[in-house]
Amino acid sequence: MKRVDFKSAKSLISKNDVVAMVVVIKHDSEEWNIIPVQWFTQTSLKPPMFAISIGHSRYSYLCLQEADEFNICIPKKELKNELLACATSSGKDVNKFVEFDIDYFYGRFKRVPIIKNSFVAFECKYVSQIKTGDHTIFIGESKYSWLAKETEDSYNYLSMKDL
Ligand SMILES: Cc1cc2nc3c(=O)[nH]c(=O)nc-3n(C[C@H](O)[C@H](O)[C@H](O)COP(=O)(O)O)c2cc1C
Repeated sequence: MKRVDFKSAKSLISKNDVVAMVVVIKHDSEEWNIIPVQWFTQTSLKPPMFAISIGHSRYSYLCLQEADEFNICIPKKELKNELLACATSSGKDVNKFVEFDIDYFYGRFKRVPIIKNSFVAFECKYVSQIKTGDHTIFIGESKYSWLAKETEDSYNYLSMKDL
């Protein structure tokens, strides 16, 4: 092996990562916001828990500070353009659901919806947060899970190499 800088070491193994679209209620209105995140992972089996890592410069960081719930949606490949649009705009300036025509439905949580074209989705109750450098990890307990009905959609979810 050879010693390299962090970016070179990390970039190749990141290509298989799944990308999530996290939906959270806005902190300053009753609208919802979407933030695409690559940095998320399961952290507990019982109860099932997830961690998402959110940059302090993101508008979603403010929203998550005040949110009781957030939904982690794993988009199907057909949501690629919407994901890229959500990743290059801020909920501070736009309503991403309206601007990018993103369909949704309500699961069990009544204040925050699930993105319709998701492959899987998890409705999470906020549990805690940990600051880590320029990001904060928000931890949520998955209360309800959803899976696309169509069996032909197996493994039809976006990963970093599709972007
Ligand atoms: C593929 C991809 C993965 C991303 N992953 C993260 C992430 O894990 N955490 C994060 O804070 N931002 C991540 N971003 C950047 C945010 O999605 C982006 O800054 C977004 O516009 C923030 O929106 P907001 O200002 O409405 O919160 C990612 C962007 C892309 C394209």
